[in-house]
Amino acid sequence: MNTKIALLTLNILSALLITAPIKADNFSENDVIRWQNEYMSVVTDGEKLFHGGLKSKNTVSCDQCHPNASNIHPETYPKFQQQLGKVALLGEMINWCIMNPLESEPLALNSKDMVALQSYIHYERRGVPLAPGKH
Ligand code: HEC
Repeated sequence: MNTKIALLTLNILSALLITAPIKADNFSENDVIRWQNEYMSVVTDGEKLFHGGLKSKNTVSCDQCHPNASNIHPETYPKFQQQLGKVALLGEMINWCIMNPLESEPLALNSKDMVALQSYIHYERRGVPLAPGKH
């Protein structure tokens, strides 16, 4: 093969690669059911943590001020939070409550308990339209 033909072939091949559609991974109905079950089990873990399962140092629990995660607006995050003086994530505000009303150690933002708390709080507000930044 001479150089010209080799280059042309390379061009055609790279054009084909670039235009090839990126396919999502295949998944079955069983996968979706498994993922949904996994998600709901984490929501249930979060519900327990929210209702006393965090075992805070002063025995205060989230539901004493936010019964059933009501008056929490996860759909408004990220938003400016006065207590933190910056645009904050939902997890940072959860940690503010853990450190202040609960007088306990903050959670790592990617910890199992933090993921569970956020899963529960979001689940309680499912269907509410996103309103980032809203007060
Ligand atoms: C003693 C009462 C009290 C307890 C207990 C408490 N909070 Fe709060 N929480 C507050 C107050 C006060 C605010 C501030 C309201 C504001 O400025 O938006 C707040 C705000 C929040 C917000 C932000 C709400 C929003 O709409 O922006 C989240 C999230 C939150 N709390 C989660 C929790 C979680 C999770 C727990 C348990 C770990 C908890 N709170 C425990 C009093 C409490």
